[in-house]
Amino acid sequence: MATTVVIGTQWGDEGKGKIVDLLTGHADVIVRFQGGNNAGHTLVVEGKKFIFHLIPSGILYGDKLCAIGNGVVLDPKVLIEEMDELAANGLSVTPEHLKISYNTHLIMPYHRAMDHAREAAKAEGKKIGTTGRGIGPCYEDKIVRNGIKIADLLDPELFRDKLEENLKYKNFLFKELFGTDTLDADGIYAEYQKYAEKLAPYAANVSVLIDDARKEGKNILFEGAQGTQLDIDHGTYPFVTSSNTIAGGACCGSGIGPSKIDTTLGICKAYTTRVGEGPFPTELFDETGDKLQKQGVEFGATTGRRRRCGWLDGVVLQDAVRLNGIDGLVVTKLDVLSGLGGLKICKAYDVEGRKFSYMPANIRQAQAARPVYRDIEGWEDDLSGARSIEDLPLKARNYLRAMEEIAGVPISIVSVGPGREQTLLLRNPFETE
Ligand code: IMP
Repeated sequence: MATTVVIGTQWGDEGKGKIVDLLTGHADVIVRFQGGNNAGHTLVVEGKKFIFHLIPSGILYGDKLCAIGNGVVLDPKVLIEEMDELAANGLSVTPEHLKISYNTHLIMPYHRAMDHAREAAKAEGKKIGTTGRGIGPCYEDKIVRNGIKIADLLDPELFRDKLEENLKYKNFLFKELFGTDTLDADGIYAEYQKYAEKLAPYAANVSVLIDDARKEGKNILFEGAQGTQLDIDHGTYPFVTSSNTIAGGACCGSGIGPSKIDTTLGICKAYTTRVGEGPFPTELFDETGDKLQKQGVEFGATTGRRRRCGWLDGVVLQDAVRLNGIDGLVVTKLDVLSGLGGLKICKAYDVEGRKFSYMPANIRQAQAARPVYRDIEGWEDDLSGARSIEDLPLKARNYLRAMEEIAGVPISIVSVGPGREQTLLLRNPFETE
């Protein structure tokens, strides 16, 4: 029995989807614990393409229990569309295999509208570049205690009451502050009652379910979304998402105690990318940046936006190791670095003459951070055919060693391409002595 948390060490898009898919093969239960349909990953199975935003991809296995924890913000429309799409591909999602916490908060139409209105109203340079899915406004309602949970959705009277209370306030803002369209309670009520009917059989006490599975000796995988630098508390605030993306989020976002987590794996791309606005000290605006973007096919899975690209940031990596208590690193997309010439890894920041070994909390300092680089020899060889560490050229192995030195933790897995077979497994977190 083992419980493993998988989180992103950077700004999201580290390639968690592939690694989660791989580890799912060893897990019995897979749990989402934060974020919502701002996340997204694509899997190709037997020639069919599946895009997942909310349901853990473990659903494809057919015999796994997938759970959506209380820390997730759930857009029921998107969830049902995802279920319907899977059904259209011959995979029906049943309540036996998917559970949603009664405490999971719902994204409402006014959350999406608010996300768009707020971003549109912000001046250039102040926009966050959100995914527009209503994530922030939904978490905001949760924190001010106006949120609507699955448990509320299943109680029509309570739901109607909360909906009307919320709309009074939101419609005031839409009309008076943003000058946008107001929303109608009857329409939303009718729409959400249909969702209630569909989702009722899936609602469960996810904390109890996880605890039971643990006591039965099952392997449990907690699947993080986004990345450490997008964490609401520890990321490059305010250019962050609205949830705790770090490993601790697995506990509060699903209802498991911290002492019951065995392993935390940090997924780290061999270079760095970011979508949306905000500080990015190692960002490249030159030919190498373009090459990384092209070779790495760096487009967002949810919004299709071109990702900003840059060198590996060791400061970000060290922040991630500390904030998440990472036991093992998973290095992804190492193959993308082939043919770039000399490589660089950032080892510290220089902020107006002051040296930083962590991301400055002051956003102006974070924006002004200049990377201090360590040069590392590059390689020309194509790595995509490697099937074990020994297959990698010495220079690529040296690069990995440098990553381990900076992180201070060992590498568990290296990925050299999108295929399952392009994965070099050094340590399996679910194989405990
Ligand atoms: P929100 O989560 O839609 O509020 O967006 C806040 C910030 O997080 C924006 O910069 C987004 O681009 C970023 N973000 C949200 N989800 C993801 C993700 O899954 N991958 C990468 N960036 C993300």
